[in-house]
Amino acid sequence: MTKDVIPTLTAFDEAALDTAFAALEQQARDGAAALDNPQAVEEFRLLWIGRKQGRLNEVSSQWLKAAPPEAKKPVGERFKTLKALVEGLLEQATGAGPSDAALAAEAIDITLPGTRRLTGAEHPITRTLNEITQIFAALGYSVGVGPEVETDYYNFESMNFPPGHPARDTQDTLVVANQDRRPLRERLLLRTHTSPVQMRTMEQQPPPVRIIIPGKVHRNDAADATHSPIFHQVEGLCVDTNITFSDLKGTLDYAMKALFGSAVKTRFFPSFFPFTEPSADVQISCIFCGGKGCRKCKQSGWIELLGCGMVDPAVFAFAAEKQPAYDPKKISGFAFGMGVERIAIMKYGISEIGQFYAGDMRFLGQFV
Ligand code: PHE
Repeated sequence: MTKDVIPTLTAFDEAALDTAFAALEQQARDGAAALDNPQAVEEFRLLWIGRKQGRLNEVSSQWLKAAPPEAKKPVGERFKTLKALVEGLLEQATGAGPSDAALAAEAIDITLPGTRRLTGAEHPITRTLNEITQIFAALGYSVGVGPEVETDYYNFESMNFPPGHPARDTQDTLVVANQDRRPLRERLLLRTHTSPVQMRTMEQQPPPVRIIIPGKVHRNDAADATHSPIFHQVEGLCVDTNITFSDLKGTLDYAMKALFGSAVKTRFFPSFFPFTEPSADVQISCIFCGGKGCRKCKQSGWIELLGCGMVDPAVFAFAAEKQPAYDPKKISGFAFGMGVERIAIMKYGISEIGQFYAGDMRFLGQFV
């Protein structure tokens, strides 16, 4: 078969050689263009570089052999070029390299406008959480976490809400169903505040403790412009020797100035929480009117922002069951808790708490 394809060369001048080799190169190119399956590739391979009767062998044995001595070199050079071409074509057909046609089909028009990717940004709640956390981190607080599905013991009992105590009713609790057979303290609920992480932290480490706890909490509140059944709190706990109410006031006054600007003032009102004694509500001077009185602060000049107090000795007594160093005669501490949504609403001038959770890009895009 191959014999008749390789013509016999009679003239060996440059022009004759060029014509003869060009014809072969063209045949190789034409053949390679049709290589669309492995079998065709194999046939092409055998036809051109097969050991016995491959065309390349024929060319080298017939043309080179027949060439007069002075033509051996030009024939050899052209033979080399032809061989490289065939090998290149085969490589293209067998290798992973896509064919020219495939490349052309995939070609992109680089003059078209690109696909715009939206820039990601922190959610305003995450941003506020981080901001608060960082203010306290700079004061030497570390960050603590705890489970959102909590036991009655950590959420209530160890925080000095005894079973049946009316203070439990103030935190409309979402409980996990079908747990009646469990002892009360082991029953699961969605934590109503981040305070249980105070206890979890104290059980893990002896004093001193300085910890800030950002997290999600749940209450069975009807959703309205300012309430959501899921919201976020940041809890703080500081326990050491000789911690006083002055430390609490100084710390929170500093933190509120860091958060809202140095012109902000704070004031502390008596309040009640089972786990702190004494307890206080903290108000800041209205950031909208500077304290003169406006609609936002209901003309009072003050906005209530967080709860706090000195850790109740009863709470230390629960912690001491696992860490005896929490001896209320030797140590003292303060705790505070703030609602993150409330702070974010004030900082960013948001009118509806629901906007934080709606996932509306027109809202979220403003925080990029
Ligand atoms: N856990 C309280 C609440 O959710 C806030 C608080 C925390 C108050 C720590 C005092 C000390 O209402």
